[in-house]
Amino acid sequence: MNNRFLDACWGKPVDCTPVWLMRQAGRYLPEYMAVRSKCTFLELCKTPDLAAEVTIQPVDILGVDAAILFSDILTPVEPMGLKLDFVPGPVFENPVRSMADVQRLRIPEPEKDLPYVLEAIKILRRELSGKVPLIGFGGAPFTLACYMVEGKGSKDWANIKRMMYYAPEIYSALMDKVTMMDMEYLNAQIKAGAQAIQIFDTWGGILSPTDYEKYVLPYTTRLINGLNRMETPVIHFVKGSGTMLQTVQKAGGDVMGLDWHINLGTARDLLGPGMAVQGNLDPSVLYAPSEVIEQEVTRILDENAGRPGHIFNLGHGILPTIPPENARFMVECVHRISQR
Ligand code: CP3
Repeated sequence: MNNRFLDACWGKPVDCTPVWLMRQAGRYLPEYMAVRSKCTFLELCKTPDLAAEVTIQPVDILGVDAAILFSDILTPVEPMGLKLDFVPGPVFENPVRSMADVQRLRIPEPEKDLPYVLEAIKILRRELSGKVPLIGFGGAPFTLACYMVEGKGSKDWANIKRMMYYAPEIYSALMDKVTMMDMEYLNAQIKAGAQAIQIFDTWGGILSPTDYEKYVLPYTTRLINGLNRMETPVIHFVKGSGTMLQTVQKAGGDVMGLDWHINLGTARDLLGPGMAVQGNLDPSVLYAPSEVIEQEVTRILDENAGRPGHIFNLGHGILPTIPPENARFMVECVHRISQR
């Protein structure tokens, strides 16, 4: 069993730096497109055998040190009562705008409402045994609320910000409910066999550090505190967190996910030796010629300077037009250059 990913999460010594890629299963892989051409994205998420198949693809193709469950952060929002579609970006037909909308939301029972997610985890633990650990994941309450209020992706997220400032009681009632859903959903993933949990806060960085502390931090802190994480490390990734790392660190968690807007060495100095980090190659470097990819991998490993507790990753998801062989080359560089 390749344990370097979990060892690095706990800050233990490793033979070389573990690496995986956010959104490593997806459209840049022809093998994914072959499976995906026969069904919709949501059908793929809801068919455990197929979800397991595309989860394993990047492990075999890229040689990464961890698998991440194939699903979406919005999967558990559908059984809360919002009608979800992907076109290809996510769209909710009935976004949350009023207190009545919040009151109508239900807290799903994972075993009953999301059995396909738990079944995929069980299949994956069997199929990955002796290979690599399995990461489960969820969206942070704020990022989920962004989509639930807006109804789709947005440039300025004006609706949720307006709700935050003008209707704080609706905002906090919504965040309370989403946090409770998340806690039960992620604990069910752990119970089903997820060996680490990543919390994706893709939009946490759209707020000022002061507003992040007031409107986001209390909920993420409550979520992380409520997870059964004795043996299950929690990775907390907030995109755009570079200007407020020590505030984000207060949420708890074992590993801080970093985007590429802060140098990894600077981030480690700020966070201190007690917290592992994950990151942080600019995803578009994978368009570059191999010498540049190798140079950038070397630079990031040098920034880490041999400190324990580094998981190499991109600073955000892999882009759909990246040549898979470049991703493979990056993984090979990380392993070769970091060998101890
Ligand atoms: O990392 C993995 O390989 C596991 C699978 C995974 C998906 N989405 C599959 C997916 C994970 C971890 C996610 C997380 C996710 N989903 C986030 C947080 C991370 C991030 O990228 O910021 C967000 C914000 C979403 C919401 C979402 N889902 C968007 C905005 C989109 C459309 C645009 C896009 O990036 O593809 C999706 C669809 C989606 N989720 C696809 C995949 C493979 C593409 C669907 C398809 O096959 O057409």
